[in-house]
Amino acid sequence: MPEQTFLMIKPDGVKRRLVGDILIKLEKKGLKLAAMKMLQITKELAEIHYQEHREKEFYEELIKFITSGPVVAIVLEGKGIVELIRNFAGKTNPKEAECGTIRGDYAVDITQNVVHTSDSIANAKREINNFFEKAEIIRK
Ligand SMILES: Nc1ncnc2c1ncn2[C@@H]1O[C@H](COP(=O)(O)OP(=O)(O)O)[C@@H](O)[C@H]1O
Ligand SMILES: [Mg+2]
Repeated sequence: MPEQTFLMIKPDGVKRRLVGDILIKLEKKGLKLAAMKMLQITKELAEIHYQEHREKEFYEELIKFITSGPVVAIVLEGKGIVELIRNFAGKTNPKEAECGTIRGDYAVDITQNVVHTSDSIANAKREINNFFEKAEIIRK
């Protein structure tokens, strides 16, 4: 099975109408999209997705933000795609993210930082399973 990762355009990115720009960047880079949909994240799904941050002081704010409006959930596929998409998004804090990255170009706030990306192959599998049915992911 080819390597896959999970990228999500967060509510701020959708509200600010950055979906098109981000998709253009992904397509122009030549990346393979395996799945994509828009959805409203429930509190339950948000808590599952961000379970590793339960104890953090920003957790409540994060759950409130991620459920504040629709998101666009995307599965990308290819060799080394997890690391590639992490680099593509840029550092978590947009003030530290390099120009040319999504966060570097489109964000200033550490919570409202436009995109989520999986940080490992194992987490990518877990996140894709949380957001997509098997039949929603295109093979070949
Ligand atoms: N110090 C912080 N203050 C407020 N929000 C934060 C902070 N750190 C992280 N976040 C939010 O929580 C999300 C998840 O954090 P983390 O997994 O560490 O970053 P990443 O999204 O780069 O993997 C971040 O993308 C951001 O929206
Ligand atoms: Mg993370």
